[in-house]
Amino acid sequence: MFITLEGIDGSGKTSIASMLKEKFEKSGKNVYLTEEPTQIIFDVKSIMEKELDIYTRIFIFMADRVEHIKIIKEKLSSGYVVICDRYVDSTFAYQGAVLKNFLNGYENAYQYMNNIYRPFSLEPDIIIYLDVDPKIGLGRIKSRKREYFEKIEYLREVRNFYIHLSKIRNYIYIDSNSSLEDAWKQLTQKLINLDIP
Ligand code: TYD
Repeated sequence: MFITLEGIDGSGKTSIASMLKEKFEKSGKNVYLTEEPTQIIFDVKSIMEKELDIYTRIFIFMADRVEHIKIIKEKLSSGYVVICDRYVDSTFAYQGAVLKNFLNGYENAYQYMNNIYRPFSLEPDIIIYLDVDPKIGLGRIKSRKREYFEKIEYLREVRNFYIHLSKIRNYIYIDSNSSLEDAWKQLTQKLINLDIP
C-alpha cells in the first residue's frame, strides 16, 4: 500500500506520518517512511532558496520524483507499506500556485503538470490531505525559521490549490486546524471506514 501525506507547512504531516508508521507496525506490517523532496540526485532542499524559474522548479521536483518512484516501487514489491511525506500533489499545489498565473487558471496549470507526471506516474492508494489555515500552520512552525517558503500569501495560494485538487483527486480530507490528536482521531476513523487496520 502506498500512502502520501499532503498539506501546507505546519499542517502536521510529518507527525501524522510517524504516527501512521507506528500504527501499521503495530499491526505487523513493514513500513518504509520516506519524503519528498529527496536527496537522490542531489539535495533538492539546498536549491529552494534560489530564484528559479517556475518551470525549472517543476522539472526539478518531477525529476526527483522519477528517481524516487523507482525506490518506492521496489519497497512496494517487497511488501512494505510506503508512507511518503509529500508527493506529486505538493508539486501540483506549490508550483501550481505560481503556474496558474502564467497558464490562466488552476485547471490549465494542473493539466500541464499532470501531463508531465503521467508517463512515469505511480499513483498513491491513499492521499491524506491535512487542511490548515496558513496562519495556524505558520504559528506552529515559526520556531523553524525558514523564510523561503513561509510567506503567508503564498501559502494561502497553495492551500487554495489543494482545495481545488481535493475536488478532482481522491483525498482523505482532514481538518487539521485543531490539535494533532484531533487530526489523528479523524484520520483513524476514516481509515476504519475504508477497512484499513
Ligand atoms: P520541508 O522542509 O520538507 O517542509 P515540510 O516539513 O513542510 O514538508 O520542505 C519541503 C518544501 O518543499 C515545502 O515548502 C514544499 C516544497 N515542495 C514543493 O514546492 N514542491 C514539491 O513538489 C515538493 C515535494 C515540495
